[in-house]
Amino acid sequence: MVVGMAATGIAPTGVGAARGAKTGANSNKMDPFGRIIDYLRISVTDRCNERCLYCMPEGYKGWERQPDHLTAAELIRIVRAAAGLGFRKFRLTGGEPLVRGDVPDIVRAMTEIPGVESIGLSTNGMKLAAQAQPLREAGLRTVNVSLDALDPEIYRRITGGDVARVLAGIRAAVAAGFERVKLNCVLMRGVNERELWPLVLFAAAHGLPLRLIELMPVTTTEVLTERNFMACGEAMRVLEQRDEMAPQPDRKLGHGPARYFLLKQTGALVGFIGALTNQHFCDQCNKMRLTADGKVRPCLGNHIEVDLRSALRRGADDTVLRELLETALRLKPWEHQFRNQYQPCRPMTAIGG
Ligand code: 5AD
Ligand code: SF4
Repeated sequence: MVVGMAATGIAPTGVGAARGAKTGANSNKMDPFGRIIDYLRISVTDRCNERCLYCMPEGYKGWERQPDHLTAAELIRIVRAAAGLGFRKFRLTGGEPLVRGDVPDIVRAMTEIPGVESIGLSTNGMKLAAQAQPLREAGLRTVNVSLDALDPEIYRRITGGDVARVLAGIRAAVAAGFERVKLNCVLMRGVNERELWPLVLFAAAHGLPLRLIELMPVTTTEVLTERNFMACGEAMRVLEQRDEMAPQPDRKLGHGPARYFLLKQTGALVGFIGALTNQHFCDQCNKMRLTADGKVRPCLGNHIEVDLRSALRRGADDTVLRELLETALRLKPWEHQFRNQYQPCRPMTAIGG
């Protein structure tokens, strides 16, 4: 039986502040379903220095090839067009964004664009220790770090990486004074299930919100089985055996769909991202994605894409870019197709997690 977050009876949190965005010339843009879409997640590269079981289990191939991503100048042009259209919140993702050396430069240029209110970064943390301070100084406000396990062996099995480096990255991010540092963990039964409680304790000890994310079929991998899939409801029951969980229906940490709970004894703040089991997951969707190769993707779980890179390289001006973004907005589906025998084609790395 699938127990979704919907079964908890917690009212979905509204877009709240998103509705009140004040800066920028244009008003906020609505999709065909009346949702205000003001959040753009940008994959700056499809390259990655890890090989997560649920994403790129073989690791990135093709380091010797020229990178196939937008240049910093192209990214900035798209951000300017998006901000002109009413986008206010931006997140840089990958792949692993920090394998690119120019992320602080991109952030700095973005902060100068009228209408850009907040810039966040999602990273696996491997290169964060050295980058945290320059990123903060460039104007980055929030950082999400993937942390699927604390045990070095389990972490290595899931990601191929070194958890000590990630922990050093998290410490550096906290020291750099970001407005928020969050931890992300993808739930996999039989893989990191026993790491959940240690992760909660770690999150509580460092005062960092922990988000538990249901495994999504964004790439074809062996880990994507019924047996490995762990619903948020199930993770919640694991945690409930150790601590009392108080729902925080009004808590909005960032701009995503997580639903937060406060664990009363430990003080941990845990968010659940139930893309598969929460039937209302898409109700409050506020985002679109830009892939590393310059396609706007209105929904992670739908193959619709609008090609901005070709337009850019044909010399399109800002009006054309804005029109293409509006086209993508009009094509935004009501919900993802993950529950409908969705066939992944592009890995999350290329789409922007
Ligand atoms: N299912 C759920 N989350 C995923 N991520 C990457 N691939 C998947 C997947 N198949 C998450 C990473 C990271 C964020 C950018 O996306 O864990 O935290
Ligand atoms: Fe790399 Fe992130 Fe994919 Fe892991 S989930 S392989 S860290 S891009």
